[in-house]
Amino acid sequence: MNSLFSKNLQSLINDLSACKVNHNQQVLDIMQQARFLQEDLEPFFTFNHPDRESYGRKLIFDNGNFKILLMSWKPGDFTAIHNHGYAEWGCVYFFGEAAHRLYTVENSQLTSVEKDTYSEGQLASVCGDLTHLMGNAGTQNIATLHIYGSNSRDSNISENAKIYAPEHQKIFTTMGTAFINMSPELILAEEALPEIEASLYEDYYGLVKLFYKRNRLYSVIENMEKQLDKLASA
Ligand SMILES: [Fe+2]
Repeated sequence: MNSLFSKNLQSLINDLSACKVNHNQQVLDIMQQARFLQEDLEPFFTFNHPDRESYGRKLIFDNGNFKILLMSWKPGDFTAIHNHGYAEWGCVYFFGEAAHRLYTVENSQLTSVEKDTYSEGQLASVCGDLTHLMGNAGTQNIATLHIYGSNSRDSNISENAKIYAPEHQKIFTTMGTAFINMSPELILAEEALPEIEASLYEDYYGLVKLFYKRNRLYSVIENMEKQLDKLASA
């Protein structure tokens, strides 16, 4: 027993370690049976994350094959639009209500598929090519527990994740974090993002604007507003 973890977290780690995951439903079943108390999670809260990081991200456990993270979201905290690299299975458990956007990518073209909200206690499935954005559109702090795993890799399973950044008209390849306006040292490669539809751009702008205001990056806001006008008049 690792004394770093509470009984409930250690039991989740044990159950995931013992499971040969062939189907994502096995991970969802394990999470559905897991129980968490405030005291299990409290040591991993990062609501005081720096403004330049668009949400709080704390690694709880990583054995190379799977990892567990706790994300902390203040009101207005959001991820960039991202996928999950080499992850082959996983899930997100919501401890509060979270905003969610689902996208598809075909030939680098980003398209919006769904806008929805996850409620407290809900579970969502995750795999590598899931492209989405999530965050806190409410007025209270919320946390989410994330599990990412792979059967074919034994290290860096979040590597090769993509970030779709309409404000920079770029697709970035990263080590796995999904911060908005990510710092260059976390970026492994970049390519051009084809022009996206006006409604997607407008929705995205509404979600990330507060991040850029908090960081006083007003030039990005101005550029996005110009791009929005251009798309609207096209
Ligand atoms: Fe994600």
